[in-house]
Amino acid sequence: MSLTTPFEKLSPKDFETCWRSPSNIAFVKYWGKKGHQIPANPSLSMTLKECFTETKVAFKKSDALSVELFLEGNREDRFAGKVKAYLESLITDIPWLNNLSLVINTKNTFPHGTGIASSASGMSAFALCLTDYLHSLTGEEQGDLFFKRASHLSRLASGSACRSVYGGFTTWGESDLPESSDKYATPFSVHPDLAHLKDSVLVISGVEKTVSSRSGHGRMNEHAFAEARFLQAKKDFNLMVSALKSGDVELMGNILENEALSLHAMMMTSPESYMLIRPNTLAAMEMIWAFRRETGLPLYFTLDAGPNLHLIYPEVFQHKIKTFISHELSPLTQKIIEDERGEGPVKC
Ligand code: PMV
Repeated sequence: MSLTTPFEKLSPKDFETCWRSPSNIAFVKYWGKKGHQIPANPSLSMTLKECFTETKVAFKKSDALSVELFLEGNREDRFAGKVKAYLESLITDIPWLNNLSLVINTKNTFPHGTGIASSASGMSAFALCLTDYLHSLTGEEQGDLFFKRASHLSRLASGSACRSVYGGFTTWGESDLPESSDKYATPFSVHPDLAHLKDSVLVISGVEKTVSSRSGHGRMNEHAFAEARFLQAKKDFNLMVSALKSGDVELMGNILENEALSLHAMMMTSPESYMLIRPNTLAAMEMIWAFRRETGLPLYFTLDAGPNLHLIYPEVFQHKIKTFISHELSPLTQKIIEDERGEGPVKC
């Protein structure tokens, strides 16, 4: 039975809901798909706290599917089109979605193009609203199945969004962990020493990226190193799991940085090469390595599909590390966003 089977034969009614959902940063990267939104390797991420999307959706019965979307109060037809295409992709499983009109009001706590994945927070916030709507029709509770469904529906909209449905650390993709799945994410508990990690985001450039993640995933299909990358990611996933479980910050940090550099190496060596890191990204990475050599403090970086660095470190070292960031690294940045591990989505 698919996760949407119970909703196949219902009839729509009017309903309104609102969810706040955070972004997440991958420690082991999802890069490359097999089939429709199925990851080529398992990934693992930390859900953020301060960077989130708040989305309110009004569902109304209608003769045909229509979507109106307002971002920070401004009408955004491009995003409305994306949500409509996503709902259309679900119509085979839930045909009556065709008889809905949606008005969506959404806002982010972080600016667009700052290296924080707005698709992860945005699509998970929307999927949570949709799941809430579906459950309101069947009268089901918001239990484990609710979040599993929300994660499944988030994945179909944007892969990494499925991990934002849970707080703390989350894995997605088939692995040796019990209950792991390619279809939805699963929460993952870590050693207390690594439970309170900080994430200072160095915004090196806010310019919109030249190659979308969708296109980047696609380029893995013909990539000369694809199989080697998927094997490396699976190995890194297992090592990251053991580092986080045992509280081995050095192992965690080494894999974290290697995963970020491998992701960008894939971009640079893909059939149509491209590069998203900028000179200041490299300068900051060199300075972080030098800082670590000199102080022995556990400050590590990772990158999303963009030039901006996420600096990850345990909260207990924040005083010295934040002094270094603000004195030495901030001249390389446009701005710094202070974030940390968060508790996951809430209904607003
Ligand atoms: O979820 P997508 O399709 O935007 O891809 C996200 C890919 C990375 O952010 C680079 C890695 C990840 O696992 O989040």
